[in-house]
Amino acid sequence: FEESNIGSAPKRFHRDDGQHAFRVLSTDRYTGSYPEYRQPIEINSYSIDADRRVWFDNRQLKYYAKPQLTSTTPSLSYNYERFIQRDDTIPEHIDTLLDALTDARSKNVDNNGNTQADIVTWRGIMTKLFATPFSRKEPWELRATRHKGTIYIEEQQTEEKRMQEANKSERQKKMSYWGYQFEAMCTTTEPNGPAPKVDETLEPPNTNEQYCVLVRTRLGHSSIVMGAEVDCIEGLKPNKKEKSPLKQYIELKTSRRIDVERQNITFEKNLYRAQQQLLFYIRFKLLKFWAQSFLVGVPRVICGFRDDDGVLSHVETINTLEIPRRVRGKPNMWEPSACMNFTDQFLQWLKTVVTIDDSEVTYSIVWDEPWREILVSCNGRKDTFLTQRYMDGKISN
Ligand code: A3P
Ligand code: MG
Ligand code: MG
Repeated sequence: FEESNIGSAPKRFHRDDGQHAFRVLSTDRYTGSYPEYRQPIEINSYSIDADRRVWFDNRQLKYYAKPQLTSTTPSLSYNYERFIQRDDTIPEHIDTLLDALTDARSKNVDNNGNTQADIVTWRGIMTKLFATPFSRKEPWELRATRHKGTIYIEEQQTEEKRMQEANKSERQKKMSYWGYQFEAMCTTTEPNGPAPKVDETLEPPNTNEQYCVLVRTRLGHSSIVMGAEVDCIEGLKPNKKEKSPLKQYIELKTSRRIDVERQNITFEKNLYRAQQQLLFYIRFKLLKFWAQSFLVGVPRVICGFRDDDGVLSHVETINTLEIPRRVRGKPNMWEPSACMNFTDQFLQWLKTVVTIDDSEVTYSIVWDEPWREILVSCNGRKDTFLTQRYMDGKISN
């Protein structure tokens, strides 16, 4: 098939095999003026407890408390052997997101159509889309269903991903634990409380417990409802009438200290290579920090900087909107307008190919080698993921 790519019109391809392809162009083709991004508004929130039960309240929302770092503060590996992890072999699809939509509708927050949107998905999926024009190494696979005009998108569990997860080294597992331990160290259940002591009284992280919000926004040509986990809040917890609790939310992150000297680099060649690696690392890390919080209107990211052993050196507050400035003008860097224009064009195109309006029909959306195009194909009535209770307007079975 031939590429037909005229002006800024959406790129459309139709193949004989029934697949549709969206060509991912070089990033400069998406850079420029910004599409509209409407200030996200919160339309619902909920808590998931240690037993994965959903509660439409904020019992799981924690307060931020700045950790006191001293030379005796244990590393982020503390409590690793007590880590309680959600069993991700149990597929949950977008069930809680759908329940939260139903709940929002029942609370009548819907006078102005806030629970209606072109796209319903997790924030994590939108983050992946934002990063796609700059990523040639991170494949993803999604699944979509069109129901009453709305396209629902979830992550497709692939065998490849399961293998990767299963083959994680002990070090990789520990490193992904560090982010959760950082959360445990700087959140409390009491407002203005001191940060918890990192000793045997500290509860180990439990990834079953979550606090999630549902936000609605618009990116260019598409209205979007996203579900997202929120790490903590600064100030008092919002009551249900609060206008914009999003402003109080804080995203917690950990990042490796950017400190070339400490890596014992003696040769210039190695120094150059190390700098390139670090640049690459910072570049994508910051892109994701920015996209993750920007998408749902979380204004601040609090980042704990650590060394290669998970020892924290300091904590820094970064305003989400200032993140792009940190990379602006640097060679080979990402550009927020490119993330947004690309995603806007892709979603616009997706609406033209995910056309069968049937809650049982799913489509596969795949971005993989050779990193040229995103492929969409219809799976037929297979891998259905919208719940019957959602269709019935009920929350529990
Ligand atoms: P860091 O991002 O600080 O490493 P989130 O920051 O999105 O709230 O996620 C909390 C933590 O979950 C992350 O902290 C990281 O430890 C872990 N995590 C999230 N996504 C991950 C992924 N794709 N692979 C490994 N660990 C992940
Ligand atoms: Mg989180
Ligand atoms: Mg976080």
